[in-house]
Order: sequence, then structure tokens, then C-alpha cells
Amino acid sequence: MTEQEITALIRAAFAARGFAYAPYSDFKVGAALRAMNGRVYGGCNIENAALGPTNCAERTALFKAVSEGVREFDAIAIVGSLDGRKNELVTAPCGICRQALYEFCGPTLTVILAKAEDDYLVTTLGALLPYGFGPSNLDPAQSAPQA
Ligand code: THU
Repeated sequence: MTEQEITALIRAAFAARGFAYAPYSDFKVGAALRAMNGRVYGGCNIENAALGPTNCAERTALFKAVSEGVREFDAIAIVGSLDGRKNELVTAPCGICRQALYEFCGPTLTVILAKAEDDYLVTTLGALLPYGFGPSNLDPAQSAPQA
């Protein structure tokens, strides 16, 4: 990805973060997931008084896209921090989001963890979720009959 493309995706993640609903943790997260068709799907975290139904920003973006028939992606940018504060740490996707992304993106997805438009690191889903369990694990072509 070019630096310009990365900056654009981080900007989209910050825009999505603006819609975060996080009255319980005050930790606002934004994600921007880029589809192979060039479209970018933004997502924010959506908390709940019962806590359990809370949805992370990454899954919000992913489920928006998949629910519109889009299943191929090449990059995601993620930003997160307490409301009104600038983070010293990058916000990396939680375990559930890594698994949810793996289903559609596999290990090659580029993952941009950003603190600011010009302060980020670039990694991959494969690095964040080594030996991920995905659709190919359930593919009979990947196994042999038991002797
Ligand atoms: N959260 C995300 O949306 N994405 C992450 O990658 C980490 C955590 C949300 C969930 C919850 O609303 C808040 O951040 C604090 O955990």
C-alpha cells in the first residue's frame, strides 16, 4: 500500500470512531476495512448496558460489508483511545475480532494500527493470529480418509 492509501484508511477509521457509542468504557474505537472492490467500510464500537452485546469496531465494519454481499478485503485500519485522549498504545483487534476477520480475510490481510495519521505500524492478520483456524480447516480436500 502507498503511504497515501494508508493515510486515507486511517482517516476513515478516525471518522468512524466519531460515531463510537462507548458510555461504559469511554474507550472509542474506529475501524476502516477496505474491500477488493475499493469500497471502504467504517465501523465503531457499540456498547451495551448489559455489556455482553457490545460489538467491537472491527466487527461492525466487517458485518456491514458482509451484510451487503462484500466478502473480499485487503486492508483494515484501526484507531482507539479513551475519549478526549491520545493513546500511547496502538489498539490491536481483540481475539474475537481477529478470528472474525480471519474467516473472510485469511492471513494476508494488511492491518494498520494507528495512533495518528502519521504514527502507525503495519502488520498482517497472519502475524496477529498465527495458525488461524479458517474455512480451509473444514475443507474435505485438506484431509485424507482415516486408515
Ligand atoms: N474494542 C474495540 O472496538 N476494538 C478493539 O480492537 C478493542 C476493544 C472496544 C470494545 C469496548 O467497547 C471498548 O473497546 C473497551 O474494551
